[in-house]
Amino acid sequence: MGGAHFKDDDAFIASAVRDVERLESMAGLTTQTRLLDWGCGAGRLAVGVREHLGRIGDYHGVDIQPELITWAQRHLTAPGYRFTCLDVSNERYNPDGSSMRTIGTEPSSIDLLYAYSVFSHMNDVDTPAYLTLIAQALVPGGRAFFTCFVEEGVPDWEENPANYGPLDWKGRLHCTRFARAHFEEHVNASGLRVEFFEYGQETDGQSLYVVQRPAFI
Ligand SMILES: C[S@@+](CC[C@H](N)C(=O)[O-])C[C@H]1O[C@@H](n2cnc3c(N)ncnc32)[C@H](O)[C@@H]1O
Repeated sequence: MGGAHFKDDDAFIASAVRDVERLESMAGLTTQTRLLDWGCGAGRLAVGVREHLGRIGDYHGVDIQPELITWAQRHLTAPGYRFTCLDVSNERYNPDGSSMRTIGTEPSSIDLLYAYSVFSHMNDVDTPAYLTLIAQALVPGGRAFFTCFVEEGVPDWEENPANYGPLDWKGRLHCTRFARAHFEEHVNASGLRVEFFEYGQETDGQSLYVVQRPAFI
C-alpha cells in the first residue's frame, strides 16, 4: 500500500509514526486535535496516529482518488477516524474533477493540517488557492505541516524539471518545483506565516514547512 518508497509494511507504519511524533513536537498535535490529512492517499498517517495516540479529537483524511478513499474507509474507519473523497481536479490524479476547489472542511474548524507530498504534485494556480483555503480552515493559532520541492535560483514554478532529484519525472505533475521565494510569497499572501523550514530532507529531496495561522491578525 505504501508504493515504491516503502520496503515493507513495517517501514510504512514507521514512517507514519515518525511523522506523528514530528506533528506532536513541531505542530502541537495532542489527543484533542482536530486534524485534516489533506491528500491522505490510502491513509498512511491515520495508521501512525492510531498506533501512537489511539483516538484524537478528529482525524479526517481527504483525497481525490476514489479507490484510495474506498480502501481507507473499508480498512481504517473507526471511532474518531473518517475519510472523504473530494471530486476536485488535479491534472495528475483526477484530471476530470471539478474546478470548484475544496479541502472538505468548514472555516476555522481544524487545529492542524498535514499534507505530505501534495504540493509536490500541484500547479502554480491551485497552490495559492489551496493555501488560502487552508488558512481559512485553520483556527487562529492553528498550524499546517507540509512538504514540497523548493530551490533557490530556479524558475518560479516548473513541472518535471530535468536532472533534478532521484527520479526521471514523467507525466503530468509528477514533480512540481517552486522557487523558494515564490512559494513563500504564496504562503504569506494566504495569511499563513512560516514557523519552520528545513531544506531537502523529505521524500525525494522535498523540503518541510510548518506554517501557522496567526492567533491575532
Ligand atoms: C504522493 S501522494 C501522498 C499521499 C500521502 N499524503 C502520503 O504521504 O502517504 C499525493 C496525494 O495527494 C492527492 N491530491 C492531489 N491533489 C489533491 C487535492 N486537490 N485535494 C486532495 N488530495 C489531493 C493525490 O490524490 C495523492 O493521493
